[in-house]
Amino acid sequence: MESINTNMLVAIMIISVLAIFMELGSCKVQFIFGDSLSDVGNNKYLTRSLATANLPWYGIDFGNGMPNGRFTNGRTVADIIGDRMGLPRPPAFLEPTLTEDIILANGVNYASGGGGILNDTGNLFIQRFSLYKQIELFQGTQTLIQNKIGHNASQKFFAESNYVVALGSNDFINNYLLPVYRDSWTYNDNTFVAYLMETLGKQLKLLYGLGARQMTIFGLGPMGCIPLQRVLSTSGDCQDRTNKLALSFNKAGNNLVADLTKTLPNSNFKFGDAYEVVADVISHPVRYGFNNSDSPCCSFGRIRPALTCIPASSLCEDRSKYVFWDEYHPSDRANEMIATEIIRKLGFLYNGTNLAPSPAPAAAPSSGD
Ligand SMILES: *[C@@H]1O[C@H](CO)[C@@H](O)[C@H](O)[C@H]1NC(C)=O
Ligand SMILES: *[C@@H]1O[C@H](CO)[C@@H](O)[C@H](O)[C@H]1NC(C)=O
Ligand SMILES: *[C@@H]1O[C@H](CO)[C@@H](O)[C@H](O)[C@H]1NC(C)=O
Ligand SMILES: *[C@@H]1O[C@H](CO)[C@@H](O)[C@H](O)[C@H]1NC(C)=O
Repeated sequence: MESINTNMLVAIMIISVLAIFMELGSCKVQFIFGDSLSDVGNNKYLTRSLATANLPWYGIDFGNGMPNGRFTNGRTVADIIGDRMGLPRPPAFLEPTLTEDIILANGVNYASGGGGILNDTGNLFIQRFSLYKQIELFQGTQTLIQNKIGHNASQKFFAESNYVVALGSNDFINNYLLPVYRDSWTYNDNTFVAYLMETLGKQLKLLYGLGARQMTIFGLGPMGCIPLQRVLSTSGDCQDRTNKLALSFNKAGNNLVADLTKTLPNSNFKFGDAYEVVADVISHPVRYGFNNSDSPCCSFGRIRPALTCIPASSLCEDRSKYVFWDEYHPSDRANEMIATEIIRKLGFLYNGTNLAPSPAPAAAPSSGD
């Protein structure tokens, strides 16, 4: 009798410990809001969108090498950071197989190529989800989960999840810096950044109001050095004004996020950018094991800029030697460096375990390089 009770007690203890471990291991998921730098397939389903990565050679270094909706040859920065934190990769919101169970186990990615902080940004692409639209879609997801697991469990689930907000470059490249947009003549460089911050502040508070507590907001890289910006000048140099806008966005974003996390109870909002490291890689590619930092790996002969990488384009010989994959987007290897820098800056746990289902084409060089 006694020994049976002891055995049962031990068994119950083991089961409870296992249950705690399983809960710890499975409860954390991410909800990702972003643009083409984080899109994992939403635009693939926006059939009228001109911003798509649904053609070869996109995805050539990811999984089976077929296009998967990512605007790069391999992984996005958010993929890599999530992998290093041991979090599952959230599927695209428009993925037809998305169910409540999949959302509870993996989260959702709302990122959409061409999207911006402002509603108007990227309207030249016809279809894309702006950040406000992505937040609306997230509210729909919350209703779905609440109906499935009840109000309290749902609140707990969303409060414990991680949130990533990564937009802003399209608000410059595909809005403010294009003379066809009203914003380009309504604002100047300072007032436009202030307007973006005011809007982003409202959006982050909206997410907080919906229960988001752990949030990472990505800053911008030296976007004046993307190949598309370089071809604007005959010298092929980086666009200095565009880079200054990115720096000013990062400075203001850092202050905004610090203020919010101070004033919103129980919030843990962090802002991280990799501007300096990427700028250094672009100036000294060889130091970091790259061979090219000014033109796209995927290009259509000498015709530049090509709007996108297409099946008729040709690829560079060694994709891990190019900082840029196409006119806009960094390569997998550059994304790995960006992710490593953001992790370092934000002090995220990094246990060296990469749970990525797809192998990385190359390892990042040490940051002390
Ligand atoms: C932006 O779009 C959202 C809907 O997606 C709408 O609720 C909001 O009022 C719009 N904001 C502006 C400034 O137009
Ligand atoms: C939900 O939480 C509230 C407050 O914590 C509690 O009073 C209520 O009983 C809970 N409802 C259910 C169904 O567990
Ligand atoms: C770097 O590029 C140059 C030509 O631009 C080429 O000759 C050289 O072989 C490349 N080096 C590597 C390591 O790929
Ligand atoms: C990961 O690293 C952190 C900090 O060094 C440590 O506390 C934690 O136990 C590690 N987790 C695993 C699974 O190794």
